[in-house]
Amino acid sequence: MSRKNRETVLGESTATVSNNTGTTNLDTETKKGQHADRRDFIKVAVASGVGICAVGAPICAGARMVLAPVFQESQTGRFYSLTTVETLTEKPQKFAIVDNKRDAWTTLPNQKIGSLFVRKVGDEVQAFHSLCPHAGCMIQIGTKKNPQTGNNEEMFYCPCHAAHFSFDGKRLDGVSPRDLDSLEIKIDNGKVLVKFENFTFGITEKRS
Ligand code: FES
Repeated sequence: MSRKNRETVLGESTATVSNNTGTTNLDTETKKGQHADRRDFIKVAVASGVGICAVGAPICAGARMVLAPVFQESQTGRFYSLTTVETLTEKPQKFAIVDNKRDAWTTLPNQKIGSLFVRKVGDEVQAFHSLCPHAGCMIQIGTKKNPQTGNNEEMFYCPCHAAHFSFDGKRLDGVSPRDLDSLEIKIDNGKVLVKFENFTFGITEKRS
């Protein structure tokens, strides 16, 4: 079929449909209605999507903000190499733990994330967290009256509520619900590695 003939037939065909019976006109109206319904549906769907995004975005952002700390990498529970065994003494020495500090959104390199005490008694190396198990104040070393012997001696003490602890971390008196929190130690070729962890304050159980 030539192009001209094809255009004529197509034109006729179109003309035939547009000039057909009422049934055909009703079909046309129905189709128009269907197109209109489809357009309305699309409009509603788009509007709903925009609404959901507008309302949902802050909710999702809020959920992320709440959940972010759950997903962040733990900063505690790692072993840190502190010193060598030969440098330790019976009197506890204090060490700072430096690492990348993370909050929900940022990472700050080389920040102090905590501190601890390490000592050596004979062949045994001991390490204790420097925060008081009562409410988290910083433990100090000083000469105090031992409530059990009445003698003045060096010991750990907490300046906040006057709790006292012996150098092996045992409670001597005061309101602390437990002994100082001991930390896990590994000796590797004479180096002292301590697993730094934080524990829950104010409870008798030593728990992360
Ligand atoms: S915080 Fe140490 S005794 Fe209360």
